[in-house]
Amino acid sequence: MTSTGSYQPRQFNLSGLKGISDQTLEMHFKLYEGYVKETNNLTERITEFIKDGNVDQDEMPAYSELSRRLGFEYNGMVLHEYYFDNLQNGGGTGDAARTSQFVKAAEATFGSYDIWKTDFVGIGKMRGVGWAICYQNPANGRISNHWITLHETGNVAGFNPILVMDVWEHAFLLDYKPAERPKYIEAFFSNINWNTVEERLKKFTGVQSARA
Ligand SMILES: [Fe+2]
Repeated sequence: MTSTGSYQPRQFNLSGLKGISDQTLEMHFKLYEGYVKETNNLTERITEFIKDGNVDQDEMPAYSELSRRLGFEYNGMVLHEYYFDNLQNGGGTGDAARTSQFVKAAEATFGSYDIWKTDFVGIGKMRGVGWAICYQNPANGRISNHWITLHETGNVAGFNPILVMDVWEHAFLLDYKPAERPKYIEAFFSNINWNTVEERLKKFTGVQSARA
């Protein structure tokens, strides 16, 4: 965010992924920039409404509509930043290392990394437009996977996004057919930056087991 209060689009050093073309990434960066622009635009317009200290009755319909859209645009901006950040420039190495904190968290909550992955991939294949996100509950360290409709419906307040996967068709349509979302999800997994995931994960000792 700049000193004037508006957000600037971030630049991502990301190319050469496995199964996700540079052309897709370029288009996706442009879409992301659109969310940053709209977030700024809505914020400015809402600021205009409230600067005289009240929202008049005749202003309420327009003010309400802008405010409702703010959640869509804001989450569209932020989730794309999480998504690009958890991809590895030049391609990744596949699944998480067995010794990582992430695998330990997955085992503590799901019983095994493979079961965690089955759940995350399953959510990613759900019909609809949205995201699959693995969150960590900051209160107890447990992780859980969630489906987010569009950008804003289904996010859990206060939970930290650990792994964020865009499954809107624009994320893969230049590389795969609409029905080939599973192939894109496979490609996504081969490009995950597990160092980023590991850094996002807060260290907890004695994470409560799902079976406890
Ligand atoms: Fe996207």
